[in-house]
Amino acid sequence: MQSGLSSKPQTKLHVGIIMDGNGRWATRRRMSRLRGHEAGVEAIRRVVEAAPKQGLGTLTLYAFSSDNWRRPKAEVSALMSLLRFYLASEVESLVRNGVRLTVIGRRDRLPAGIADAIGRAEAATAGGDVLHLRIAVDYSARDAILNAALKAASAGQLTREAFSDLVTGEAGLRDVDLVIRTSGEKRLSDFMLWESAYAELHFTEKMWPDFREDDLAEALISFHGRERRFGGLQPEAMEPREEPALSA
Ligand code: IPE
Ligand code: IPE
Ligand code: MG
Repeated sequence: MQSGLSSKPQTKLHVGIIMDGNGRWATRRRMSRLRGHEAGVEAIRRVVEAAPKQGLGTLTLYAFSSDNWRRPKAEVSALMSLLRFYLASEVESLVRNGVRLTVIGRRDRLPAGIADAIGRAEAATAGGDVLHLRIAVDYSARDAILNAALKAASAGQLTREAFSDLVTGEAGLRDVDLVIRTSGEKRLSDFMLWESAYAELHFTEKMWPDFREDDLAEALISFHGRERRFGGLQPEAMEPREEPALSA
């Protein structure tokens, strides 16, 4: 049972994916890292298509972190070109499949034209109600929390839910149920730190370009086999009682 502290009305899952390993995937094949990122876009297509069939209502993909600006200029601009390409080439199929796209993260540091392309893609897909696809670009969870705190300071007293809306930039976003990270790394790298407070974590050795529908299914089987207690006890050990109003 989800605690009343963070329960949201949506029943479909929110899954976040740290799509890692594109570079290693390519290097092992003696290809350029760019080829790995291109193969990563194919994996995105597969997973977006599979997501609604596997019970996801929201899918947040980590595409470019605010720390990824530290990479060589050529790799950063290749990644930005891929993002531009994805936005231009994908909108039609997202609309057809009922996918609403939003991009989270900073837009003011992106190369010219990308922020506009993002806005156009968001507007074109706004009616999608099968899946909410969120792509994190120039994203830092700590910055998102800091910015929310700065806004909250002028807003006075806030509930946890209202603060959450400031962090996520939207009203009532479901907390993250499951975070998946590919490539064998076991860290969060500044991804959705607030939203993942009670998320289950799934790490796989697979590199992101090799990730397919079956891998998502496997992660979800593992997720469904776990017991989420949200600080309480196993349901059979719980006596029915009123929950105290703990949130401020
Ligand atoms: C993930 O793959 C994509 C981005 C971070 C943009 P990487 O590029 O981090 O691949 P590895 O970790 O170097 O293999
Ligand atoms: C995290 O991957 C960011 C994305 C997947 C976009 P990184 O490859 O940048 O993370 P670290 O540096 O290994 O922690
Ligand atoms: Mg990496």
